[in-house]
Parts: sequence; C-alpha cells; structure tokens
Amino acid sequence: MITLSTLPKVMKAAVVDAAGPPEAIHIKEVPVPALASNHVLIALAYAGVGIWDAEERAGSWGSVKPGTILGADGSGTIAAVGSHVTTFHVGDRVYSYSYGNRSGGFYAQYVSVPVDRVAPVPAHLEMKIAGGMPCIALTAQSGLQTLKVTHGQTVLVFGASGGVGSCAVWLGGEKGATVVGTARPDAQEYVRSLGAAHTIDPNSPERESVIKRAAKDGFDAALVTASSDALPSFFSHLKPRAPIAFPNGVEPEPHFNGHPASAFDGAMSHEAFEKLNAAIGARTLPLRTQVFPFEDVAAAHHRIEQGHVVGKIVLHVDL
Ligand SMILES: NC(=O)c1ccc[n+]([C@@H]2O[C@H](COP(=O)([O-])OP(=O)(O)OC[C@H]3O[C@@H](n4cnc5c(N)ncnc54)[C@H](OP(=O)(O)O)[C@@H]3O)[C@@H](O)[C@H]2O)c1
Repeated sequence: MITLSTLPKVMKAAVVDAAGPPEAIHIKEVPVPALASNHVLIALAYAGVGIWDAEERAGSWGSVKPGTILGADGSGTIAAVGSHVTTFHVGDRVYSYSYGNRSGGFYAQYVSVPVDRVAPVPAHLEMKIAGGMPCIALTAQSGLQTLKVTHGQTVLVFGASGGVGSCAVWLGGEKGATVVGTARPDAQEYVRSLGAAHTIDPNSPERESVIKRAAKDGFDAALVTASSDALPSFFSHLKPRAPIAFPNGVEPEPHFNGHPASAFDGAMSHEAFEKLNAAIGARTLPLRTQVFPFEDVAAAHHRIEQGHVVGKIVLHVDL
C-alpha cells in the first residue's frame, strides 16, 4: 500500500499546452500535485471523458493555459490524505467529481481534490463504471431534483443513450417514475436495460403515435440532454405547466411556451454524493462504458467528437 513517504515525485499526465485537435494532448511526466490539508490524493484507475474536455482542449472556452491536465472525474484509490482529513484512509476505493480542479485534472496517475468532492465507491460498482459516472450521475441527479420527479410520474428523458441521459433513466426509474427515453434504434435496448419503460426514436416518422402510446396522459416533466428540432413534438405532450430542465451546456437552450424551463449543473458536494450512493445502495448501475488505454487519449477525443456515443467513454489510467 502506498503511503505519503513512498509516493513518487513525478507522474504521467495527459497535458495540453495550447488549444488544438486531439493530437494536441501529450502524455508527459509532471510533478505529482501537492496535497492541501483538506485534500486527498487519489491514485487514479479510470477517468471520465466528456464532451466538455474536448471543448476545453479545442479552445472553445478561450485559450488553454500551458500544462493543463484535462478531466473532471474518475475513480481510484486514496494514496494520501491531507492533515485535516479524517473520513478517508490510504487504500480506500473512491470516486470524485471536481470540475475545474485547481491542482490539475483527472487524466493523470494522481489527482489532488478537496475531500468534499470525493465519495466511497459503492461495494458492487465496478471501478471502470465508477470512473465514468461522477459528473454525469450527479448532473442527472441535479436534473431530477430540479424537476422534483417523484414516484408515479411519467418523465421524458430526451437524449437517453448518452452519459447524463443514461444516469437520468436509471435514477428516475429508481425513484419509481415511468421513464420514457429517446434514443436511436441501435441504442434503444440499452436504454431499456437502464429501466426505461418506453423508448422512442426522436427522428422516426411514427414518433407522434409512439409518444401517445408511451405517455397517454402526457409527461409530468422533461429532462433534456441535447437540443433538437424534434423537441417541440415531445414538449407538446407535456401536461399543463409541466417543467423542463436541461444541464448548462445544452444549446440552444430548450424552451416551450407555458412551461417553466430551468438550467442546472451537476452538484460537486458531499451531500450530493451521499444521495447518489444511497440511490445506488447495493445495486450496480448498468452504465455502458467504452474503455480507451491512457496512451490512446487522442483516439478517445476523436471518438467523443464523432458523437453518438452510447453510455460513457473512460480512460484506463492505471499504469
Ligand atoms: N452543466 C453541467 O454540470 C453539465 C454536466 C454534464 C454534462 N453537461 C452537458 O449536458 C449535455 C449532455 O452531456 P452528455 O455527456 O450526456 O452528452 P452525450 O453523452 O453526448 O449525450 C447526448 C445525448 O443526446 C442525444 N442527442 C444528441 N443530439 C441529438 C439530436 N439532435 N436529436 C436527438 N438526440 C440527440 C444523443 O444521442 P445520439 O446518439 O442520437 O447522438 C445522446 O443520447 C452536454 O451539452 C454537456 O455539455 C453539463
């Protein structure tokens, strides 16, 4: 087991020095991040790859600071704890979501993160699934909370085969809602395996009759993970004043007259992780993952930029 005194001084990380294509990411040796008193150092096993990582790398949000390590979430084991940390110990299996993490991202052998952005990995959850889940599951959870989804409701998850959508379908089903998910035909079986009662191809000419069958009395709420010209057809089946919610990043922002529409973010907090772990309990979340070896990080970015990823892309960083 690693202790603070045996930690290496340098690690491998996937670094971007200037905005560019996926090939702008280089695997380099960099210093292991410093450990603040309220941080833990995680030896990563898997890191999530999100479209936001590709947008950051490409410079969509402005220039890229030289030495940027991408990645907002992942899973691994605790390698060291800060002097004020009492809740985790070296060797614990953990997962973490820390968007814009100040001491560097998760595409690395080690990440140093504030302790309230870390949680134990539920016993039955595979590390590769845990590595891809934190951002998308906490975002799906925020969305269902924003919509106040409860038992017995009929909820539309538009874009159900992607990361946030997969988790929203599963968590919505766990809450006792009847979930109707949109997905291309080749992803519909997967979306049903997550617990969707009905799946609809958003581009099918028959979608109107399928929506009517799936949500006879209309939708109580809509969680939208992608913008689309097909949205008004779905929104026209919302019950009066039924709410719409979408994560920040979905553009153009969805709206429909007569229905409140709210943007939300995934919560990076101890309370949010506790709620997620309580929802998971002793179950496993059947999130589909596509694993890329660490050295193929550029290929992982090419893949995410192609679109139509079913489930989640993860990097295997355990070197
Ligand atoms: N603010 C936050 O905290 C936060 C956190 C996480 C994510 N986000 C944002 O949330 C969004 C979803 O993220 P994600 O990781 O879940 O993305 P994703 O994995 O790419 O999933 C997108 C889903 O929408 C579907 N879709 C895309 N374009 C469509 C279209 N024109 N018509 C119908 N369906 C379409 C996709 O299916 P297809 O196979 O048909 O493409 C897929 O099911 C992104 O904009 C991301 O930036 C925000």
